[in-house]
Amino acid sequence: MAEADTRFRHETERLILRDWQDEDWTRFWDGTNTPAVMRWLGGVCDGDKRQAAQDRLLSYEREHGHTFWCVERKEDGAILGFCGLKRCNQKGGPIGMMEVGWRLREDAWGKGYAKEAAIASLDLAFDRFGADEVIALTVEGNTPSWGLMIRLGMERREDLDFPNDDFDPESGTIIVYSIDRGDWALLNG
Ligand SMILES: CC(C)(COP(=O)(O)OP(=O)(O)OC[C@H]1O[C@@H](n2cnc3c(N)ncnc32)[C@H](O)[C@@H]1OP(=O)(O)O)[C@@H](O)C(=O)NCCC(=O)NCCS
Repeated sequence: MAEADTRFRHETERLILRDWQDEDWTRFWDGTNTPAVMRWLGGVCDGDKRQAAQDRLLSYEREHGHTFWCVERKEDGAILGFCGLKRCNQKGGPIGMMEVGWRLREDAWGKGYAKEAAIASLDLAFDRFGADEVIALTVEGNTPSWGLMIRLGMERREDLDFPNDDFDPESGTIIVYSIDRGDWALLNG
């Protein structure tokens, strides 16, 4: 009997969120390892940092069944970046909480792709992965990222902010937004 296909794949109107394949990484980094994309993420990554990031993304999938998935555009198969779910593991943060995150290559900004992928991820968090609340992390300077959090209906959670300079050494603080199952259902029911 054929082995059951356990790979993750989720389609939205324009996108596919899916597990990472070996051949995705070069295309992912070519598109996203740029000064503009990495501006609020500690800057452009060298080879060691890229490998460590890949290893982390694969380990989330193995350990939790979800990760920041590869985002592929249906129209042309382009790898736009990632979006999805992990468990917060940022030093000093609310460790273990379900966290939604996103990173798209620059030519995919301003088209609603991140919001489309994030809505799918939040639906999956509540419907498939049993979350009661989902957080998102960023820094004050990353207006596009916290703007998306607000557009998704997430609320600012100053009580969960924590000192960490991985993203922005100048501010040294990671800021937190969240939404719970009830509010997500109200907004999207
Ligand atoms: C954060 C990030 C994912 C946001 O991407 P984005 O494209 O701005 O976000 P959205 O998908 O919500 O798109 C919104 C924009 O698309 C426009 N848009 C066009 N078509 C649209 C559609 N069909 N639906 C919704 N919005 C649409 C909106 O008007 C809006 O434009 P504006 O920014 O000019 O007002 C992106 O800036 C990014 O990858 N940044 C670098 C990585 C990063 O910092 N990640 C976060 C770390 S915390």
